[in-house]
Amino acid sequence: MDKNLFITGTSKGLGYAVTREFVSRGWKVYCIIKDKKDIETMKNIDKDNVFPIVSDVTKETVKKDIEKVLNKNIKIDLLINNAGEAEKPLPFLQSDIEGIKRNLDIHCIGAARVTQAVLDQMEENSSIINISSRFGSVKKIASGELDHIPCSYSYKIAKGAQTMFTQCLSRELKDTNIKVCSLHPGKLKTALAAPDADHEPEEAAAEIFKIKDKIENGKFYSLFEGEFEV
Ligand SMILES: NC(=O)c1ccc[n+]([C@@H]2O[C@H](COP(=O)([O-])OP(=O)(O)OC[C@H]3O[C@@H](n4cnc5c(N)ncnc54)[C@H](OP(=O)(O)O)[C@@H]3O)[C@@H](O)[C@H]2O)c1
Repeated sequence: MDKNLFITGTSKGLGYAVTREFVSRGWKVYCIIKDKKDIETMKNIDKDNVFPIVSDVTKETVKKDIEKVLNKNIKIDLLINNAGEAEKPLPFLQSDIEGIKRNLDIHCIGAARVTQAVLDQMEENSSIINISSRFGSVKKIASGELDHIPCSYSYKIAKGAQTMFTQCLSRELKDTNIKVCSLHPGKLKTALAAPDADHEPEEAAAEIFKIKDKIENGKFYSLFEGEFEV
């Protein structure tokens, strides 16, 4: 029986590495890319097992775009909400409110939109991983332990809101076998890299493949540092 992954934001970085990892393990991957020029990038991984969907998680059309490619009979075993971007880190008074809205729309509302589109195709014994960040832990922000690492208000607010989405959905689904979690993928050397980046996206992708079968509902995992408190 085919195993199917649905993942957003795969043109580069972690999403691209996860697509390669899962395809190399025999999975089929349905993936959202923003730009149609990346269809070829994705098809070059494995034209028979990668199914690119050109869309944008911030657009209301995302559900329709998904339906064009993802047949209603296909069951999704794992959904990874990965698409993301970051604004320049600035003090609050210089922060752009539009940037805060944009980041909320990608990291939190976008994850909610895609989950609404895919959830009724998820099997019992399936999982949703919302790719978070250490900046998505309110506990870590409140303790001050991340104060020395530059990061925008928009990113922190958006990942914090996504954490709340993850917790709410995990409570609603607690009596099902669909598990929902947040996952900090590590400090990765990607276009979004923080100054202290120390892992390749391929290392994180291999760890995600391993952790997917051990997910417990409502947890906040950190691939290279154990679990986080919300
Ligand atoms: N890098 C890190 O150290 C780190 C740490 C913690 C968490 N994360 C999280 O990990 C995830 C992946 O980040 P990354 O480091 O791999 O960054 P990346 O290399 O910049 O990749 C981000 C991906 O998201 C896509 N994307 C952005 N906005 C989108 C939208 N509106 N709709 C659909 N796709 C969209 C991008 O597409 P385009 O190429 O077309 O723009 C790109 O494929 C993000 O959620 C990020 O917050 C990263």
